[in-house]
Amino acid sequence: MPWWRRSPHNDTGGDLLKVSVIGAGTMGSGIAQVFAMAGDETTLIDIYKEALQKGKANIERSLQKLGEKSALSTEPDKILSSITFSSSLDSCKDSSLIVEAVFERLDIKKDIFSKIAEIISPGTIIASNTSSISINLLSSYVKEPENFIGMHFFNPPPIMKLVEIVKGRRTSESVTKKIGDISRSLGKDPVFVNDYPGFISNRVLMPMLRESIISLEQGIASVEDIDKTVKLGLNHPMGPLTLCDFIGNDVVYDIMTVLFNEFGDPHYKPPVLLRNMVFSGKLGRKTGEGFYKY
Ligand SMILES: NC(=O)c1ccc[n+]([C@@H]2O[C@H](COP(=O)([O-])OP(=O)(O)OC[C@H]3O[C@@H](n4cnc5c(N)ncnc54)[C@H](O)[C@@H]3O)[C@@H](O)[C@H]2O)c1
Repeated sequence: MPWWRRSPHNDTGGDLLKVSVIGAGTMGSGIAQVFAMAGDETTLIDIYKEALQKGKANIERSLQKLGEKSALSTEPDKILSSITFSSSLDSCKDSSLIVEAVFERLDIKKDIFSKIAEIISPGTIIASNTSSISINLLSSYVKEPENFIGMHFFNPPPIMKLVEIVKGRRTSESVTKKIGDISRSLGKDPVFVNDYPGFISNRVLMPMLRESIISLEQGIASVEDIDKTVKLGLNHPMGPLTLCDFIGNDVVYDIMTVLFNEFGDPHYKPPVLLRNMVFSGKLGRKTGEGFYKY
């Protein structure tokens, strides 16, 4: 068994993959759940106690649902109790892999990387779940850029198969391979991309979300009919405005802002309607209202 994979649930031995996930929001809680489901020793960290509680409740709900569908090999309670919840960044100090999933804000991510640089051991792999911020730029805030990589999970992480693995110019081949192997061992199907704004997924997705929001802004059709057009006419499983609410309108706004600044292309300019929704707290599912009410 490789060093990074062990299974405490079936006692096959092997070294432990000690994972810390920083940020217990939509993505971080789901990512921690994915590692815990695979049997890895997982710690979920968030500086906000409320966010940790919400993250724990999300995991509990998701495990319950998966348990009811007989999709788990271990009892939901056992998986939940295997996760350590912490409000201190110090808790990641013995980890072999750290996955960062905090707000899509460079200043916040930079601050976290600077802080953890002081406590982690040499050789620790740091992966960012960023949707749009440059991996090369983020890697300049860590001591070992060769051990820094993008590990872009999709929402919701326990369900979505894809992990977009983003190689920075200084990311080592062995770390890239290791993260590919780890992703597969989590039941994911990875793709490997070079660091470029929006990678592949958001470079392709954001202009579509933007055009959908602008269609609404221009009064061309209702929220429901824009979604219905894309679902029934283009055969997408989910309408674009439903997807915005699902991702979080603040996250969509932040991603578009990064891509607009990077490319300078108006196809990525965040629409005013989206900006106003974010400023008025209509962030989607997580706040109970976005393009739809929940
Ligand atoms: N939402 C999506 O669909 C999606 C998909 C793929 C990637 N991402 C990316 O994942 C990351 C997180 O997005 P999200 O949707 O989970 O956001 P979110 O707003 O749901 O959660 C972010 C979490 O980060 C925590 N946080 C903020 N500052 C922190 C700090 N200094 N230390 C520890 N925790 C801190 C917050 O308390 C919050 O719980 C972003 O980089 C985003 O671009 C999001």
